[in-house]
Amino acid sequence: MRKGSIAPAPLWWPTGRVRSEHPCSHPVPLVLGIETSCDETAVAVVRDGTEVLSSVVSSQVDLHARYGGVVPEVASRAHTELLVPVTAQALVEAGVTGRQLAAVAATTGPGLVGALLVGVSAAKAFALTWQVPFVAVNHLEAHLYAALLEEPDLAFPLVVLIVSGGHTMLVEMLDHGDYRLLGETLDDAAGEAFDKVARFLGLGYPGGPAIDNAALDGDPSAIAFPRAMRNEGLDFSFSGLKTAVVNHVRENPDVSTADVAASFQAAVVDVLVEKSRRAAADVGARALALGGGVAANTLLREQFLGACADDGIQGFIPTRSMCTDNAAMIAAAGWYRHQRLGPSPLDTGADPRDRLFHR
Ligand code: KG4
Ligand code: ZN
Repeated sequence: MRKGSIAPAPLWWPTGRVRSEHPCSHPVPLVLGIETSCDETAVAVVRDGTEVLSSVVSSQVDLHARYGGVVPEVASRAHTELLVPVTAQALVEAGVTGRQLAAVAATTGPGLVGALLVGVSAAKAFALTWQVPFVAVNHLEAHLYAALLEEPDLAFPLVVLIVSGGHTMLVEMLDHGDYRLLGETLDDAAGEAFDKVARFLGLGYPGGPAIDNAALDGDPSAIAFPRAMRNEGLDFSFSGLKTAVVNHVRENPDVSTADVAASFQAAVVDVLVEKSRRAAADVGARALALGGGVAANTLLREQFLGACADDGIQGFIPTRSMCTDNAAMIAAAGWYRHQRLGPSPLDTGADPRDRLFHR
């Protein structure tokens, strides 16, 4: 089934029957994750923080495309309609019932407040109904866990580059729950730059996949766009690059869009890869991983793994569906968090500006 489409809303709700390969008696290592921070309504069931039994993602991309970006109120309403059928589908695909879960985990922030509230409220209601713990999860912590979900043997200290629509950060993971911020963007996030440049080039929304696609037919060395702060520290800056693209196209109206897309993408990827390998060397990391929607980018994936091979460090990139927003990563992060800290209080609210680090 295409990402973004879900089965028609089931009129039933999973009750007693469980597939025989899941002999779930309490205590069970099954966590239901819920993700509604932006425009994906996602629910997943993950065992032991590592085995995905189901991961359903209903994307609202078609709803927002006509506006060229996510409309918060439209997103909240869609989450309200979709969350129950998506949850039912995730439970059925996993072959479990709510009462067999060890916990229900939900993204509590950062994100759009109305969108977050739908997931958080539902998660608490499910937890109360099924009499299982509720676990609050930071969305960025979950992006960190996408790699460990698929490759639990990644060695600490692990450096993870998170590149999403709202964030670009290099994080050192010393252990579960023990993170250090090595660098972050000083202005636009990498995904935001992709989205803004795509919109300017008329490539549509969401911009990242559109540029990825357009760049396939372009020459990445056609235009020498700036690599801001490439050799300075571990922070990033992408707003100057976006301005350089706009200026170049205005001065050269006949330029090939594919060449602009390829050259822009090459400039972003060059800086991301260079800083990641430097961060790994600086902290003596044993492994380097990617997370966040931009980690679905074809060129970034190639160059990142190439750099890891050249530097002799273990490199890992989650599958594309684990890079973009999904609930399996929420369940995985929730599982590890629950083991360390136990349940979250039921008066935990949505926090649209929740931070993983306070600089
Ligand atoms: O992690 P994510 O799904 O949502 C946030 O937490 O923000 O990331 C979404 C971002 C968007 O900016 C989107 O354009 C970008 O990831 N993205 C990509 C690709 N696929 C998604 N950027 C570059 N290349 C891609 N293939
Ligand atoms: Zn995300």
